[in-house]
Amino acid sequence: TPGVRPLIAGNWKMHGSLSEARSLAGAVAQGKAQGQADLLVCPPYPYLLPVQGALAGSDVALGAQDCHAAAKGAHTGDVSVPMLKDCGARFVILGHSERRADHGESDAAVRAKAEAVLGEGLVPVVCVGESEAQRVAGEAEAVVAGQLAGSLPDGFAAAGGVVAYEPVWAIGTGRTPTEADIAAMHARIRAELVGRFGAAGETLRILYGGSVKPGNAKAILALPHVDGALVGGASLVAEDFLAIASAV
Ligand code: G3P
Repeated sequence: TPGVRPLIAGNWKMHGSLSEARSLAGAVAQGKAQGQADLLVCPPYPYLLPVQGALAGSDVALGAQDCHAAAKGAHTGDVSVPMLKDCGARFVILGHSERRADHGESDAAVRAKAEAVLGEGLVPVVCVGESEAQRVAGEAEAVVAGQLAGSLPDGFAAAGGVVAYEPVWAIGTGRTPTEADIAAMHARIRAELVGRFGAAGETLRILYGGSVKPGNAKAILALPHVDGALVGGASLVAEDFLAIASAV
């Protein structure tokens, strides 16, 4: 999107050890070329602080993979947005399909979390995407439009929120939609954002996620309304992640 700085985000999911997290973050920070796309890494909770240390002095941003909607309280095992902020996180991934599937997260739950993220001045990265059955049934765009309507809070655009389109069937499978299908979905997401937020929706970043690799990044990132990528597997290898960033 003209005038929009691309964002290449790494979702490390539940991978790696402490020492691997440190060295991966260090390699990304060292390898980032000046003027390149904005880079973001999202390690597991226990590694946020050490990764923050490994990124110190670089302009690679730190993010978390989820949060609780409450600022504090009796929520055993959960982590609040103020805690994430304390650890240096600036972004929070929300509503990833793995959380929607593994933890039954609804659009309303994602929206409540996004409100908490906005409330602390952090940036939500809200994930949406259809299942394979929904795509086959011709429902992909309607499903995604519904997820956007239900998951995005009213303050989303003012805070520069990020949307990540991740077709569930393309995650970790090596399969991707056709370029035409990605372009069509991103155009639909743009239209939904502009419909809801007006002109502010024109410049929100819409990332594509699902089997992004160095080999397909250039073609995907060149598509209209693709303003970056949310990368899983390939973000665990610094040189692959940096190669994707260089493809912008
Ligand atoms: O959030 C990113 C992710 O779900 C995509 O994973 O491994 O297909 O790049 P992967």
